[in-house]
Amino acid sequence: MRVNGVVESLDIEPWVSLLDALRDHLGLTGPKKGCDQGACGACTVLADGVRINACLALAMQYADKEITTIEGIAKDSADTHPMQQAFVRHDGLQCGYCTSGQICSAVAMLAEHAAGMPSSVTPRQGGTHLTDDEIRERMSGNLCRCGAYNGILDAIKDVAA
Ligand code: FES
Repeated sequence: MRVNGVVESLDIEPWVSLLDALRDHLGLTGPKKGCDQGACGACTVLADGVRINACLALAMQYADKEITTIEGIAKDSADTHPMQQAFVRHDGLQCGYCTSGQICSAVAMLAEHAAGMPSSVTPRQGGTHLTDDEIRERMSGNLCRCGAYNGILDAIKDVAA
């Protein structure tokens, strides 16, 4: 599979999850294992730009996809993504365990919104602009046990503006 722009060859059992393949076989520990059952979002990565819970995906199902992890979101350590910068600016984190998933999810969420994908919040209140409720709903798959939600919301609004 392609991971962060690099073709990776993996020799793994068919039941290995994408999360375990990334973390244990490719050394990409940005995606975190929180619940390992699709409930927390700490493992969020992008598959062809679409956010998925890597703990619920079998790696072999994504052999023909472009996988992007938090390690691939920034161009390099000196040139971080605007969403990463906004999370720092707005204190959108505390312990940081959920942050890689939050940022991957937020980047994809704004792309989904730009592409016209509706949220389940109806009727739309903000025209083309995301309301706070829409952002909260669209990010509801990413939990933060520290409760840094206000900073996360502010960071996303900053980038979306
Ligand atoms: Fe995948 Fe929690 S570790 S959703």
